Amino acid sequence: MLNNFKIPKKTSFRLRSLDIFPNTILSPMDGVTDAPFRRLCRVLSGDRMGLLVSEFVPTDGDAVFCLEGHKQLKFFPEERPFGVQIFGRFPDKMAAAARKIAESLHPDYIEVNAGCPAPKVAGKGSGSGLLRDLPRLQEILHDVRAALDGCGVDMPLTLKCRIGWDSESINIMETLAIAEGEGVEMLTVHGRTRLQGYNGLADWDWIGKAAAAAKIPVIGNGDVNSVARAFDCIENYGVAGVAIGRGAMHNPWIFGQIADAWEGKPAHVITAAEALDVFKLYYGFKIEDGSTDKGAEGRLKQLAARLCKGFCLDERREARDERGEGQGPGAEDVAMQVRQALLSSSCAAELLDRAQSLKEGIAKDLVFDPDRLVNLNGAKETELKFGDQFKGR
Ligand SMILES: Cc1cc2nc3c(=O)[nH]c(=O)nc-3n(C[C@H](O)[C@H](O)[C@H](O)COP(=O)(O)O)c2cc1C
Repeated sequence: MLNNFKIPKKTSFRLRSLDIFPNTILSPMDGVTDAPFRRLCRVLSGDRMGLLVSEFVPTDGDAVFCLEGHKQLKFFPEERPFGVQIFGRFPDKMAAAARKIAESLHPDYIEVNAGCPAPKVAGKGSGSGLLRDLPRLQEILHDVRAALDGCGVDMPLTLKCRIGWDSESINIMETLAIAEGEGVEMLTVHGRTRLQGYNGLADWDWIGKAAAAAKIPVIGNGDVNSVARAFDCIENYGVAGVAIGRGAMHNPWIFGQIADAWEGKPAHVITAAEALDVFKLYYGFKIEDGSTDKGAEGRLKQLAARLCKGFCLDERREARDERGEGQGPGAEDVAMQVRQALLSSSCAAELLDRAQSLKEGIAKDLVFDPDRLVNLNGAKETELKFGDQFKGR
């Protein structure tokens, strides 16, 4: 199949001395983007991803920040350029953690999180809670920058934020000005407010406004779920690149597909069989990384719940159906059965066995086409109910 995309001119950006090519980032997701998931995306992309980032690392809890006990800090040399993301509300603790991480682990950059909407984070004034207290955010950025300079590491500081707390208090332009003033060298903007949680669609007009005003690279984030959407965002909203979160859970091939399109390669149609093989690969990565079998099973199911939404009928099967030759259930039913079979497995081994039999059985007429998805919201992270923002204060 030939690619039919309008290829954007911008394919890379600079983060201090780093040339980031391609301009795609796997957006950090706590409980998802650990080293094995990042490895899965990297392998499926043919190692053609721009940046990888850790899940966010808490800094408020420890009296003295220690690296031990923060499993999110684990990364491998082949993941470079790699950033460590930290969150917290105390400037001194954030600065101390940044210093310790920079001196001991030497990531390629340190990122401050001002986007997490979870009540236990934002309600306590960190994550997106910082968007209601910009002086505190400024102090954190200032102190973290000073800590990095103080220990003599040559390391960029970046920020990831939302466009504001709620629709009445959108302050992304102020956040950008503060970030630039404090030496932040890349800003990732998730185009939702904190109150939105993951509801509705990201507001790319605000992302575009920030990108137009910025002197530093602005990375756009929110609802990028296909090659076409990624290219549209880069071309039409002036961003230096895109960060893809849930889109990578629905379609861990997305980074490779973007890179293929750039390289002018024809789009590769992923069969359901190929998609189902991913579970074995991912399981292997989890176990190699020291996960328990139960832990790996949970992650396989997490991926299955998303990925199976992309299954649809193979064109050949549709043609057979049109000619009245097709028998059996329609695509929606089959995709649902595949999903159910995987999710109801009692252990990882059973899930992998079932994936194998499905490949040769009911899933053989399915292809994987995640571009049909409009909304990436899943059951779990959809809404922050009204009032949630007051919890945990
Ligand atoms: C389960 C989950 C965990 C997340 N954890 C983090 C995190 O640790 N740090 C962060 O900056 N953003 C986190 N996010 C937000 C994503 O990075 C991203 O900004 C958001 O999902 C919107 O992008 P998307 O539409 O591409 O998913 C998380 C999102 C989800 C769904």
